[in-house]
Amino acid sequence: MPVVRGKEIEVLFSASAIARRNLELAKEIAARNHDNLLVVSILKGSFIFAADLIRAMHDAGISPEVEFIMISSYGAGTTSGEIKVLRDIDNDVKGRDILLIDDILESGRTLKFTRELMLSRGARSVSIAVLLDKRSRRQASLEADFVGFECPDYFVVGYGMDVAHAFRELPFVGIVKGDA
Ligand code: IMP
Ligand code: MG
Repeated sequence: MPVVRGKEIEVLFSASAIARRNLELAKEIAARNHDNLLVVSILKGSFIFAADLIRAMHDAGISPEVEFIMISSYGAGTTSGEIKVLRDIDNDVKGRDILLIDDILESGRTLKFTRELMLSRGARSVSIAVLLDKRSRRQASLEADFVGFECPDYFVVGYGMDVAHAFRELPFVGIVKGDA
């Protein structure tokens, strides 16, 4: 097992498995869209997945524009959690077809909020791509259009995802097992 910051990490999805899946996802996205999508990457967790997926989209023959939005959910996992835009996109979404990209779909609250925000601003369509789907945790009624992998109900890190700001740099997705 890799050891990072003195902790053993169990690899759940390897870098090569993720790269292969990204190419398949990009082909699925290309097959179901024209080539003028506006990608909106939800920071911070999706930055590595979005960077890889848009390059796979290039290989699949589509040329999206790319924007970033930072969303914060306070008390995520509780019913009282309030969702806020911490940093907004710069682009007008009116009439645009949007592809939201996030790292992991869990309760669904973040993506539901962001999708409704884009639609309220006049987006023509909003589809959703996530690397991981933790279906067992869903609270909002929401499905992603493009899912990398079904994720077991563990807290995962790496490939952009953190625990207390650590482990985003890992090229794979894994579970922190404890002291090595
Ligand atoms: P939700 O779907 O609104 O509950 O929130 C999903 C967000 O919570 C994701 O964008 C992640 O940033 C974060 N998140 C959920 N599960 C995990 C995890 O296992 N590891 C790291 N971040 C997670
Ligand atoms: Mg996130």
